[in-house]
Amino acid sequence: MSNWSAGYVSDIGYTFGYYGELNPLRIRLAFLNNGLVFPELGTACELGFGQGLSANIHASASITKWYGTDFSPSQAGFARELAQLSSNDAELFDDAFSEFFARTDLPDFDFICMHGIWSWVSDENRKLIVDFIHRKLKVGGVLYISYNLLPGWAAFAPIRHLLSEHTQIMGSEGQGTVNRIDDAIAFAEKLLETKPAYARDNPLAAERVQSLKNQNRQYLAHEYFNRDWQPMHFSTLADWLEPAKMQYACSAHYLDHIEAINFTAEQLSFLNEIPDARFRESVRDFMANQQFRRDYWVKGPRRFSQLDQNESIRAQRVVLLSHRPDVVLEITGKLGVISLNEAIYSPILDVLENHEPIAIGDLESILKSKNIQFSQLIQAIIIMIGSNILSPANDDLVLQKCKKNTTDLNTALMLKARGQQEFAHLASPVTGGAISLGRFNLLFTLAYSLGKISALELAEFVLQTLNVQDQKITKNGKTLETDQENLSELLTQAEVYFGKLLPILKALQVI
Ligand SMILES: C[S@@+](CC[C@H](N)C(=O)[O-])C[C@H]1O[C@@H](n2cnc3c(N)ncnc32)[C@H](O)[C@@H]1O
Repeated sequence: MSNWSAGYVSDIGYTFGYYGELNPLRIRLAFLNNGLVFPELGTACELGFGQGLSANIHASASITKWYGTDFSPSQAGFARELAQLSSNDAELFDDAFSEFFARTDLPDFDFICMHGIWSWVSDENRKLIVDFIHRKLKVGGVLYISYNLLPGWAAFAPIRHLLSEHTQIMGSEGQGTVNRIDDAIAFAEKLLETKPAYARDNPLAAERVQSLKNQNRQYLAHEYFNRDWQPMHFSTLADWLEPAKMQYACSAHYLDHIEAINFTAEQLSFLNEIPDARFRESVRDFMANQQFRRDYWVKGPRRFSQLDQNESIRAQRVVLLSHRPDVVLEITGKLGVISLNEAIYSPILDVLENHEPIAIGDLESILKSKNIQFSQLIQAIIIMIGSNILSPANDDLVLQKCKKNTTDLNTALMLKARGQQEFAHLASPVTGGAISLGRFNLLFTLAYSLGKISALELAEFVLQTLNVQDQKITKNGKTLETDQENLSELLTQAEVYFGKLLPILKALQVI
């Protein structure tokens, strides 16, 4: 373990993940749906940005000026390279939080965000973070914070502790992190096979240990194996954030906004009898028993008048992200799978299926004859955004300003995807965020942008890219051995790409 990492796993880089909750555009509608005034985001800061994919995508696809830090120099180096290649003006540092917070060259921020940080740092760092929010988040500014939650982690926390203790006591540094993780999981499996009383009292533990085996080792290293880890109750976090004057605004996960898909009538009436908003959140966490919360907090919440709220909602543009015939009218809430009302969703999708951004007010006018109430429209929009079918959209002026940066960033990402399998996202100046594609679709997009115009040409381009690296496709757990098998699989995927994905990528100005 390196000296600079203070007990944090540092010999294995983090995943190249993207997190839409950090997209400034998504804050607006989440706040509006709760009647809360949102700030215009001139400046934003991401703490612990990992490989910096989210930071770079948001810096390229918005007019917000982004700052950030991650003390891993390899990760910060990668993030800075992307910032340079896309000229997105992001200022990304490799400072530890203590160094970054002491900088005198930072502006005050409208938005401070951290994904996967709070539960994995020491109390000392948590104190520094709160002090930074106190000093540097503007009045009215928003904090995005995700964290591991109690009671959701209560049953499995001992296994996390066991895995981490195993690596410290039984593992040696020379083994490398991946081997230590594998050994620790194997040890936990063997322990559970002895039918300990813990497994009897926590019957889901064995299943969860099994599921760890299939997870990405980079993710597991950072989630389970660094020294500091502290899941927290909602109210404990509220106490932590109190000195920074932060108050809970709303969940950043849009499906959490729809109570009817998450709680029974009995649970809702129980919750609604609790007058204290903070205690209500704690009780909700018992009902949902989720392990992770993703929330927006605000420094000084202010409520819109009904008039201003509705006007701002109507002005917000949205855009469809999915191929219309593939849209399944079902969602999964905490209560299970729920079918959506076709009489409401089909007419909305009829208007949206050309993938043109449209203001919610215009959508409302077009749908007048279909007997859809404004509140039903808003609920459908929130559900579709929560299901990643729909996205808020930038206005045309912002879109034009971001176009060149996103094009340059996408070129860099597509070129990198040739040699690295982890890349799965491209930026859209329309949505202000990323579109999730997967590596082969990134490579098809690269081929298309290089002038290849048939499915066969796209498939051949990708096959060639795989062949020079001795890579083969795995399908249904089986490796496709011959060129013919690989080409035929790629051709099938390229045809789907042309038929469904490419028109959407063009509409979202990804290409
Ligand atoms: C679990 S990862 C999350 C990364 C990223 N936010 C994401 O979700 O993809 C935590 C990140 O915080 C960084 N980190 C941890 N402690 C830090 C500290 N004291 N100062 C700066 N960065 C830190 C790590 O290098 C790591 O990249």
